[in-house]
Amino acid sequence: MHHDSIVRKTEAFVKEQLSGDSTGHDWWHIQRVLKTALSIAEQESPVDLFVIRLAALLHDIGDWKFSGGDEMAAARQAHSWLVGVAVEEGTVEQVCEIVANVSFKGAGVKNMMKSLEGKIVQDADRLDALGAIGIARAFSYGGFKGQALHDPSTGPQYHSSFEEYKNSGGSTINHFHEKLLLLEDQMNTAAGRRIAKTRTEFMETFLSRFHLEWHGGDVRLTTDD
Ligand code: ADP
Ligand code: NI
Repeated sequence: MHHDSIVRKTEAFVKEQLSGDSTGHDWWHIQRVLKTALSIAEQESPVDLFVIRLAALLHDIGDWKFSGGDEMAAARQAHSWLVGVAVEEGTVEQVCEIVANVSFKGAGVKNMMKSLEGKIVQDADRLDALGAIGIARAFSYGGFKGQALHDPSTGPQYHSSFEEYKNSGGSTINHFHEKLLLLEDQMNTAAGRRIAKTRTEFMETFLSRFHLEWHGGDVRLTTDD
């Protein structure tokens, strides 16, 4: 099969698999990651765009957070899909390696991504957790998990193992400190770092407003104007 038609078929497959998702892992997330990954790829060469397209499309298939904590579910599903549409073996291995390693697993857990294609897809995925969209996705995920928006009695925890990170039951505001604000320093590519910087600044502005309003710092009891 021609590469373009494999990509189109994969798109349709992923769209169907993720339709109805309301946790921030919907088809639109995949589309944004694909688009961002291709833009970053333009600034990094040489890269295999076929691998990037397939990995971006398949990166959240059977995500561990929604597969009973099974880390390898995504790579396994990606593998059987790619073999099914007759992608050559070397490409299948490259894509599955990326899918298996793309996800953030705790502040103290080492990033295992080796290929440049994987680093690009990982940056694109991380960028979608930052900025205005990142804020929206964090609270959407928090709602799905039944987390508090904010709980002043618990501070952030920097998880040193994937087990701890997976089982943490913190607030969504803590998630900003446990993951989102740390991503800027973990970006793999120069373009990724640049975009991460402005998105992180926006989140910091959001957080200071959040805390200001939480304490009523903007509320005036008397109006003399
Ligand atoms: P990725 O798609 O980058 O692997 P994740 O799957 O870890 O990211 O998370 C998907 C989205 O859900 C991200 O926007 C992330 O910030 C958010 N998220 C993950 N865990 C939490 C959490 N405990 N609280 C709030 N948001 C979370
Ligand atoms: Ni993702």
